[in-house]
Amino acid sequence: MPTYPDLKGKVAIVTGSGRAKGLGEAMVKRLAAEGCRVVVSDIGAPRGAEIPADAIGTASGIDQVVAEIRAAGGEAIGIACDVLEETSVKALVDQAVAHFGRLDIMVNNAGIGYLMKPLVEMDQASWDAVLGVNLRGVFFGVKHAAIRMIAQGEGGRIINIGSQASKSGFPFAAPYVSSKHGVVGLTRTAAIELGPHRITVNTICPNHVTTGLGAWQNKYFSAATGRNEDTYLKDMRARIPLGRPGLQDDIAKACAFLASSQADYVTGEAMNVSGGEEYH
Ligand SMILES: NC(=O)c1ccc[n+]([C@@H]2O[C@H](COP(=O)([O-])OP(=O)(O)OC[C@H]3O[C@@H](n4cnc5c(N)ncnc54)[C@H](O)[C@@H]3O)[C@@H](O)[C@H]2O)c1
Repeated sequence: MPTYPDLKGKVAIVTGSGRAKGLGEAMVKRLAAEGCRVVVSDIGAPRGAEIPADAIGTASGIDQVVAEIRAAGGEAIGIACDVLEETSVKALVDQAVAHFGRLDIMVNNAGIGYLMKPLVEMDQASWDAVLGVNLRGVFFGVKHAAIRMIAQGEGGRIINIGSQASKSGFPFAAPYVSSKHGVVGLTRTAAIELGPHRITVNTICPNHVTTGLGAWQNKYFSAATGRNEDTYLKDMRARIPLGRPGLQDDIAKACAFLASSQADYVTGEAMNVSGGEEYH
């Protein structure tokens, strides 16, 4: 049962949505359940050392998400796109429009968080890889969605996926934290420039969700802080006012809200979805 009837028929792209248990998968399925015609997009194949080989949203991962949406009665296609390359992001928007005729909602979700090291050991390659996907990739998504939405002249929704790391520092994560803070700056600037076109631009800032990336981070941070994983997770629950980490569905609900007409007057926002763990 859709919560936001106005989303019916809208065309949405979600980058990084071809990996099982990911936030992208949850958001694209939720938008499809609301009646959107969706594009499931992901990198499709490994490109280098920046993502572990088993952490890629593969071509078969994209096909799987598309098949599950169709089996549930939704309308979906899959398009591989490497957000590091502007030509690839432009092609993603062009192919989506060629298939569905328009673009209403762009969710810039693709991101990496695997290159964690103490600041004094951080190397340029890791810095460039994380900033490249998490900030440059979002910039390309905002830019090419905006070009299309401005041409349509009917407004639009751009939703970027930031993090608790958009608001607070975390050890061993200098490029990740910097990239996610950067997404908020990009969002605010884009909101100003695109407001006159009735295009809203917002960032969702989740705290921890145990996706594939989240599971890796649990292992990394528990080892890096000398705790076993159970203790690490217990400590995490203890500092979250609502007593649990986030769920994929929490983020998908926020995405559907921001995409809907209920959020008509919300733009330039960096919205915490963190059970109260992050509040500024
Ligand atoms: N899981 C969490 O706790 C958490 C918290 C806050 C923010 N986030 C953010 O949420 C987003 C989704 O993360 P997730 O936890 O679902 O992890 P995930 O690994 O399941 O999803 C990330 C997706 O991005 C894709 N990707 C990576 N590089 C790409 C590229 N160059 N081009 C296209 N796609 C690429 C991956 O293939 C993968 O499918 C990320 O931006 C992440 O930083 C996650």
